[in-house]
Amino acid sequence: VSKEVSLMKKAHEFASEYFHHLLLHTEEGENALHYLQERGFSTELIEKYKIGWSLPSWDALTTLLERKGMDLQEIEKTGLIIRKENELKYFDRFRGRIMFPVFDETGHVVAFSGRILHKKENEAKYLNSPESPIFQKSQILYNLDKARLDIRKQRNVIIFEGFLDVISASKAGITNGVATMGTALTSQHITKLKRLTTNVTLCFDGDKAGMEAARKAATSLQGQSIQTEVAIIPDAMDPDDYIKNYGEVAFREKIIDKPHSYLSFMMIVSKRDKNFNNENDTLQYIQEILEILSDRNSTVERDLYIRQLSQETNVSEEAIYQHLRKIQGKKA
Ligand code: GTP
Ligand code: MN
Ligand code: MN
Ligand code: MN
Ligand code: MN
Repeated sequence: VSKEVSLMKKAHEFASEYFHHLLLHTEEGENALHYLQERGFSTELIEKYKIGWSLPSWDALTTLLERKGMDLQEIEKTGLIIRKENELKYFDRFRGRIMFPVFDETGHVVAFSGRILHKKENEAKYLNSPESPIFQKSQILYNLDKARLDIRKQRNVIIFEGFLDVISASKAGITNGVATMGTALTSQHITKLKRLTTNVTLCFDGDKAGMEAARKAATSLQGQSIQTEVAIIPDAMDPDDYIKNYGEVAFREKIIDKPHSYLSFMMIVSKRDKNFNNENDTLQYIQEILEILSDRNSTVERDLYIRQLSQETNVSEEAIYQHLRKIQGKKA
């Protein structure tokens, strides 16, 4: 490891300790602590994920880093501090935010995501560290350091849309959860997970954006021969909302333990904006599902889903089979 990289990680380690201390043990951190408690975060959870608070000051952290004799010019490359225009002075990137450290696979802090306490107009809810030599969003999976062993043991990983959902799910005893840092799931993410397991459960937000992101992620996973299932959250809630409303047991029993198969999920997504009294919609639905089925080898699976398609659309199984053969003919 280069000198630069170890300094960057050292600065992040120091910053995370500082933010964590501010949250738990100072008056300035009280509002943030209450906010987190209100959201159901126990002290234990705050400790486990080293959650913190950054002061609403321009240079609280910068000053401390400087006093420790750390090379600010190097640290600036991580975005933790920002250089003032035309000056050799720096200021803090994260100010007045709840701080969530992002750990790399070996448990070192390499970035932060900072949440504002109360969402205001024109202000991003989350502010993340930029890409840097120690933080690549296409590579990093939140919580992979803590979840790795459990993913292996349980032979399954659950991918959430938000890192906050990973933390909430851990309250419900779900220890094999990870999340991307606000980006789409990349092939590098999938490669990393594939070393641990080939079974993935997606548990994204139940809103339109989440369902669409889940569809994309599921398609990427299928493309890399991962056994993919999708847990769907009702009423546009996310895992954190669901747990708050219905509790941890319901979340595990009704959502996580009852995922949909990839195909059944794709049928649900495709059906959402369609009306089977409309011929075009019906045709398009059948077409979309047969496109996926035509890549499958299992005749049992084919039988099963064609029967379902037929029941849903009132088109005969015979006609659907014929259409499937046509699609396969084109692909051959
Ligand atoms: P809460 O609102 O605190 O419950 O968080 P959430 O996890 O429900 O967030 P949301 O569903 O809105 O977003 C999911 C993920 O998208 C977050 O974990 C972030 O990684 C990312 N994200 C959301 N909002 C922002 C934003 O304003 N800026 C950036 N950079 N990322 C965001
Ligand atoms: Mn502590
Ligand atoms: Mn969302
Ligand atoms: Mn959400
Ligand atoms: Mn949420």
